Amino acid sequence: MKKPVLKLTIAAAITAGAFSFQAAAVQVEPVYAQQPVNVLDHKIVQHFNVENVYQNIDYLSKEPRIAGTESEEKAVQYIQSQFQSYGYETEIQSFTFLSYTEPESIFLSIEGSDETFTPAAFTYTVSGGITGELAVAGLGKKEELAELDLTGKIALIQRGEISFAEKVLNAAEKGAAGVIIYNNTDGALNGTLGEANDAYVPAVSLTKAEGEALAAKAAAETLTASLTVEGASVDEKTSHNVIAVKKPANQTKATNDIIVVGAHHDSVPGAPGANDDASGSAMTLELARLFKDIPTDTELRFITFGAEEVGLLGSEYYVDGLPEEEVSRMIANFNLDMVGSRDAGDLVMMTADGEPNLVTELAQASSTRLNGEAIPYLEGGRSDHVPFAEAGVPAALFIHDPAEPWYHTPDDTIDKISKEKLQDVGEIVGTAIYEKARFDNQGIKVKKASKVKVPHLYHNEDIQ
Ligand code: BES
Ligand code: ZN
Repeated sequence: MKKPVLKLTIAAAITAGAFSFQAAAVQVEPVYAQQPVNVLDHKIVQHFNVENVYQNIDYLSKEPRIAGTESEEKAVQYIQSQFQSYGYETEIQSFTFLSYTEPESIFLSIEGSDETFTPAAFTYTVSGGITGELAVAGLGKKEELAELDLTGKIALIQRGEISFAEKVLNAAEKGAAGVIIYNNTDGALNGTLGEANDAYVPAVSLTKAEGEALAAKAAAETLTASLTVEGASVDEKTSHNVIAVKKPANQTKATNDIIVVGAHHDSVPGAPGANDDASGSAMTLELARLFKDIPTDTELRFITFGAEEVGLLGSEYYVDGLPEEEVSRMIANFNLDMVGSRDAGDLVMMTADGEPNLVTELAQASSTRLNGEAIPYLEGGRSDHVPFAEAGVPAALFIHDPAEPWYHTPDDTIDKISKEKLQDVGEIVGTAIYEKARFDNQGIKVKKASKVKVPHLYHNEDIQ
């Protein structure tokens, strides 16, 4: 994003009323929009040190930080020690989750035939080895299976109408020892059963052509199939949130409000996650360092979340564990996820319901003051602002859109990180927070957002 120097922006703001006009065009709450760039912004911009952010990204992105592993723990220790070095007391909030390991190998064969297949495992399938009669079982709906005896057999089921998990559970309930689900369109079927379940039996997929040919053959003669899934397992793992809290400086003049600034510190396997999301974690650390010695009338909570990449688990755990009274005092969640890629697009905000809220208003106002341009917002989930939004806390994700080509790849490394982008985000978010959290804030009374219902797409993706 192009960015005029601050001095110029100040001069422009002093000489032109154009600012309030520009801001009004993007529908910023007037009370924030009309404020010219101010010395208070300066205070934040001057204290923000992009070298700290860069160095922390560099340290954190030496290897992937997979939730529930030692590599995550190392990152957690580092983040905690950084918070402590700024003078914070920290809390590590640990939680457990079930982690799935993909099978190492899958075999499928038909007795008396040398035909080969290309079976793929459903995510969350269990391991096992079975030899049994192949039973054609339609779409695997309960009513279709009612008359069938599937005991010890391998059910051959077509994709469609109900979820993969339902098909497997329906067949298992009728005694099936294994399940094959074949596609109803061309191409490979890479599905998931959505979540772990002890009642599953080994389940694999076949292409439409393979499945239809097998179904036709099995209708004409009795076929015996052998199915083996090896190495799949579900294990309990422990992940952590790291929390540092800055209380208001003067309790008697303090508001009751809480602002949460956060990012996730875990990454996906194989990806060092320099941008996703060492960048947001390092930004959270730098904002914590910066605000430590700046008095505020609002409580600031700096949090890095674990297990975001396996389903927003850390932020969900954190929000679920809050007393209702604390949730009601939370006026904003700034979620920093992928905030420094050289190869991504411009800075945007994503809200779970696509609507503006206090966070987008504050950041549109601060970006207008600093850069003469309000950052846009659009609808988007997929990160740790979602549990906050669902609990009724105004929340937004800060991200560059479109994402870089290295997203979730081994090439998400420090050399693709742009200090300019980091500086831009740090200034916009830092000054937006300060606008609300500083003493003598004459800003609007905060309207509480209504709770947002967000479909958890990651649970349902590909399950039917
Ligand atoms: N940083 C991403 C989210 C993201 C990426 C949002 C690109 C918008 C554009 C996040 O870490 C992630 O990968 N989320 C998962 C979903 C999560 C619920 C497991 C995703 O989007 O696949
Ligand atoms: Zn991420």
